[in-house]
Amino acid sequence: MHKKVAILGLGYVGLPLAVALAKKGHEVFGYDIHQRRIDELRRNYDRTLEVDEASLDKYPLHFLDTVKDMAVADIFIITVPTPIDDQNKPDITALQEASKTVGSLLKNTQGKIVIFESTVYPGLTENICGKIIEENSGLVSGKDFFLAYAPERMNPGDKKHHLKNITKVVAAQTEKVAKEIAQLYGQLNNHNVFIAKNIPTAEAAKVIENAQRDINIAFMNEVTMIFNEMDISIYDVLDAAQTKWNFLPFTPGLVGGHCIGVDPYYLAQCAKNLGYNPDVILAGRRINNNMSHFIVQEIKKKLKTSSEKTSSILILGVTFKENVPDMRNSKVQDLILLLKEAGHDIAIVDPLACPEKTKSCMNISLLKKIEGLKGKTYDAVVLAVSHDDFKAISITDLKGLLKENGQVFDIKGFWRKACLPEKGFNYWCL
Ligand SMILES: NC(=O)c1ccc[n+]([C@@H]2O[C@H](COP(=O)([O-])OP(=O)(O)OC[C@H]3O[C@@H](n4cnc5c(N)ncnc54)[C@H](O)[C@@H]3O)[C@@H](O)[C@H]2O)c1
Repeated sequence: MHKKVAILGLGYVGLPLAVALAKKGHEVFGYDIHQRRIDELRRNYDRTLEVDEASLDKYPLHFLDTVKDMAVADIFIITVPTPIDDQNKPDITALQEASKTVGSLLKNTQGKIVIFESTVYPGLTENICGKIIEENSGLVSGKDFFLAYAPERMNPGDKKHHLKNITKVVAAQTEKVAKEIAQLYGQLNNHNVFIAKNIPTAEAAKVIENAQRDINIAFMNEVTMIFNEMDISIYDVLDAAQTKWNFLPFTPGLVGGHCIGVDPYYLAQCAKNLGYNPDVILAGRRINNNMSHFIVQEIKKKLKTSSEKTSSILILGVTFKENVPDMRNSKVQDLILLLKEAGHDIAIVDPLACPEKTKSCMNISLLKKIEGLKGKTYDAVVLAVSHDDFKAISITDLKGLLKENGQVFDIKGFWRKACLPEKGFNYWCL
């Protein structure tokens, strides 16, 4: 049966979900506190590049900038951000505000369902958000309205794993509601839905998925730093180690973005609330946060041997990962700011990042294509993000970007098979 579904938060998670539900014939009300986002979506423009213009145009969606029009919904889905503050503590303000909004809309209603998709720690949905909804609606959760948790696992920029083929985990306060929402989400992915034991279990599952990745990457980063002292490239080591059947395929790098570098702090906070010191989780975070400093030290060391003065450095890629325009919590930005602080002259090329953002965050004008550099040459080129567009840069092009005795810093090991000593420039990779 077709439902009326309200989605609060139309970002990377909320918008694709809104479109997918509208495609299945549900009446979808999308609300976001950012007026600019609503205005753009009404013009069929998605700045996150997750949904194309044709899909926004084709499926009827109500993009709302006032909350009251959502009151008719049977199901509310909350997909607001869950960042951390400057002390690395969970900042749940958006969740609290969205819960207040839904609470105010539930007054005098019965049987409505409120699903949280945002990443949280176990207990947050029922003990904090549920209570706020109760206070603002005068209703009782589990009786007058029902809470559910359905974590999102999407991976922006990943063409292989998307809403249609990712197993969806859901959980709810009652078995009946869990089955009802499993049915709803199942329409989007050929009924590939797992009903978790209860809401805290589903919350815990989501948060450990990302913490596990963070810790494994931290191990890779730690051994990278050890092997670097011995002039051994981690990528060469991985080529050999990965021939073992049970070696886990993690790679080192800068861990930024909205999820992997943030969610472990939610888990850590949950542990601390219980009086448990989350040693492994926080060690992983420390190592990964230090990676941009480590790379900057290596760049400084290598550039110093070729020149005492400050250098001109071209950075390829500034988003938090490949093939997305998202610059939130990008560790490449940290790296650039550290190099700028040291007096180096920085240029950036990124086909997807937003030029206004690089200007406002780093005071650097961004170019979308290397052709825009118009033959300028640099003391160093740093490959920071392996966007597909950079695959077209040949070793000859790379050489053309460098001054004599220039240095390539290849964080992603992008050109390591092709950058041989006889190519006429210096090469370093992790
Ligand atoms: N981006 C991902 O790849 C991804 C993957 C899995 C899970 N998640 C989780 O999903 C959640 C949302 O992430 P996102 O990347 O979509 O965030 P986002 O920042 O792209 O989008 C969130 C949207 O919510 C809006 N918003 C904030 N407060 C609001 C409120 N009170 N009412 C209505 N709208 C509000 C913001 O304006 C923004 O447009 C987070 O918890 C995140 O950890 C994200």
